[in-house]
Amino acid sequence: MAGMGTDRLIERLGGGDDVRSWVERLDALGEPSRPVVLPAGSDLVETLLRLSVAHEDIDTLLALRPTPDGDPDAWWLLGRSVENVVRRMGVVADWERIPPLPESFGPLRRWFWVYVFVAALPHVRAYHAERRIPDDISWATLADLGRQMAVHRKRHGESGFDDPVWVTLHFTGAIYQLGRLQFELVRLGDTTGQRMLDGGAPVGPDAPALSVHIPGYSGPFSAEACDASFAQAVPFFAQHFPEDRYEVGICHSWLLDPQLAEYLPEASNIVRFQRRFQPINELPADNAGTLRFLFGIDPDLPLDAYPQRTTLERAVIGHIRAGRHWRGGVGWLRL
Ligand SMILES: CC(C)(COP(=O)(O)OP(=O)(O)OC[C@H]1O[C@@H](n2cnc3c(N)ncnc32)[C@H](O)[C@@H]1OP(=O)(O)O)[C@@H](O)C(=O)NCCC(=O)NCCS
Repeated sequence: MAGMGTDRLIERLGGGDDVRSWVERLDALGEPSRPVVLPAGSDLVETLLRLSVAHEDIDTLLALRPTPDGDPDAWWLLGRSVENVVRRMGVVADWERIPPLPESFGPLRRWFWVYVFVAALPHVRAYHAERRIPDDISWATLADLGRQMAVHRKRHGESGFDDPVWVTLHFTGAIYQLGRLQFELVRLGDTTGQRMLDGGAPVGPDAPALSVHIPGYSGPFSAEACDASFAQAVPFFAQHFPEDRYEVGICHSWLLDPQLAEYLPEASNIVRFQRRFQPINELPADNAGTLRFLFGIDPDLPLDAYPQRTTLERAVIGHIRAGRHWRGGVGWLRL
């Protein structure tokens, strides 16, 4: 589809630099080395359920399942996107920029990426098997797809999925759910690495590290559950990724904003989680980021539109009303 073909597709996808760069990257991959295989019928149902896709979305996903004879643009994007995921398998790389699909893409817009990950599933399962990742960990990790669809439903008030950048990590073997927490394989950047060295860390820029994430829709993250996850992570990565030594964890999150400790008790899970990490960075003001993660809905609503049921909800809104800003935080710890 080089040249005129990609120009037309870029236009159909709404143009813009992000779209152009995404389509050109896909085009540059060349002809996929393997055909797209999408399960159909009851096989598709079974696959979606294993990925914890909600029952209410299954009929739509069966009905909209792309085929080579349907929309050729969608089929091309699907083939190249699957190829892209497969080529990134086992590679620790920067998060990609993937633009949202426009309304004009039609009903597939909200579901396209689910098919990409379903088609990539056998490849990541083979990779997990090669690394001897236990089956329960493999499936618990990949089921984040369904969880992110729940995030979408809450955020947009309708079903779908729009976070391919995040879930690409799961389907390229770059992140694992170990109990309550997820651990992503990363390499430390220059600034973070240097600040960590200055703060007494045993490693610096470009060293392998585990970036810690906290999945939602899983209840509180008690200190005991987090202890168990960290205790599991050390032998897990030593056994399944022995080529690198993971000595440090890092976390970049709205939960690490030190200002939260002004409002929450010392015994709260969030403050106890913060105390594990040595802070390394003052981040720019980002009220929207904190509102989005805490409430899971549009961060541009008037302040009195947000629920005020918990200490944290009241603290977050009160802080903004007082003219202050949330920033999140970055911290590191020894594993
Ligand atoms: C991270 C998370 C598990 C923390 O919940 P927790 O273990 O209950 O946290 P704490 O014990 O510190 O809670 C302290 C207070 O904040 C409230 N709180 C915590 N998370 C809340 C949330 N997401 N929404 C509303 N209130 C919340 C608690 O109810 C408690 O208030 P209360 O005493 O009035 O009931 C929870 O916020 C969550 O699931 N978040 C979504 C995932 C996420 O944000 N991940 C990080 C991405 S960077």
